Amino acid sequence: MSGNTLGKLFCVTNFGESHGPAIGAVVDGCPAGLPLSEADIQLELDRRRPGTSRHVTQRQEADQVEILSGVYEGVTTGTPIGLLIRNTDARSKDYSNIADTFRPGHADYTYWRKFGERDPRGGGRSSARLTAPSVAAGAIAKKWLAQTYGTVVRGYMSQLGPIAIPFESWDEVPRNPFYAPCASIVPQLEAFMDQLRKDGDSIGARIEAVAENLPAGWGEPLYDRLDADIAHVMMGLNAVKGVSIGAGFASIEQRGSEHGDEITPTGFLSNNAGGILGGISSGQPITVSLAIKPTSSIRIERQSVNRAGESVAVQTLGRHDPCVGIRATPIVEALLAIVLMDHALRNRAQCGAS
Ligand SMILES: Cc1cc2nc3c(=O)[nH]c(=O)nc-3n(C[C@H](O)[C@H](O)[C@H](O)COP(=O)(O)O)c2cc1C
Repeated sequence: MSGNTLGKLFCVTNFGESHGPAIGAVVDGCPAGLPLSEADIQLELDRRRPGTSRHVTQRQEADQVEILSGVYEGVTTGTPIGLLIRNTDARSKDYSNIADTFRPGHADYTYWRKFGERDPRGGGRSSARLTAPSVAAGAIAKKWLAQTYGTVVRGYMSQLGPIAIPFESWDEVPRNPFYAPCASIVPQLEAFMDQLRKDGDSIGARIEAVAENLPAGWGEPLYDRLDADIAHVMMGLNAVKGVSIGAGFASIEQRGSEHGDEITPTGFLSNNAGGILGGISSGQPITVSLAIKPTSSIRIERQSVNRAGESVAVQTLGRHDPCVGIRATPIVEALLAIVLMDHALRNRAQCGAS
């Protein structure tokens, strides 16, 4: 009911606020016997961590994960895995000027309209800080998927504002702060971001996620189609305004003779479906594309109202990501892995090992 739990058999419940003492997740349903250490999870958290380049928020959070339960002698026990990440670098006074007003484009207005009360410090529960527990849970899913099926879930940035980023190689992705799969474009991305910061403005981005090496058969028609669940979880990520799978919106201009992926004895000849047909994985790579909006917390003055409904000018200070897409790639990978693990377990429950 309250919308803080994801998944049916691999269940991730998220808790905490941006400036509270800690954030975390309870991960229930992970099969016993998976070797799991804090280092496995930390690896993924470090990819999402703030303060790692001049192009992201300068909030310095170590994002050290503590495993509180569900792991004994380095192996999962099948019981709920408690994950805790302490908040250590909250500067709540930065938010005093927005306690009574609403940032255009942020969740301040709707949280206030819905709940009446809200924790404005760092965006409270609406903060993307709450994506850290998802990344931690996703690290477990990634490891289980890789170990059980050889499934690999990866992502990259394919566009930063007006700059399209060509895909050259997966090897490039971890070598730059943008998760761009192309080395030669990085100086252009850096120059664009440096100018944007000087302007006090923000920008959108496009992120791709790909899952390879998974069997056919995952997904539960009708309402829990694999593509429906992927869209659901991706739209649940802060700042996502669009999700497409496979050819996505390009399908509009395609003919059936082009879109339908032909099948041969040795496999499919294309992947317009993005690896999902009828809500069920086809065994082809699953390809997901996301449109991420520009950050709403910007230094440029914007028009808004206060709680009394009076007109005010809002300027957001404090530490913010000028392009939230820059840190989104590891989060998108984690969310995709969580959905896939849930559906892998559900398929096993219904169809056995087939
Ligand atoms: C990785 C990541 C980092 C973000 N950082 C910020 C930020 O520093 N400042 C901000 O205003 N919004 C940031 N956002 C976006 C807000 O969390 C989001 O816009 C807000 O919660 C409203 O939700 P909505 O955009 O989905 O409607 C970030 C989003 C992501 C995914």
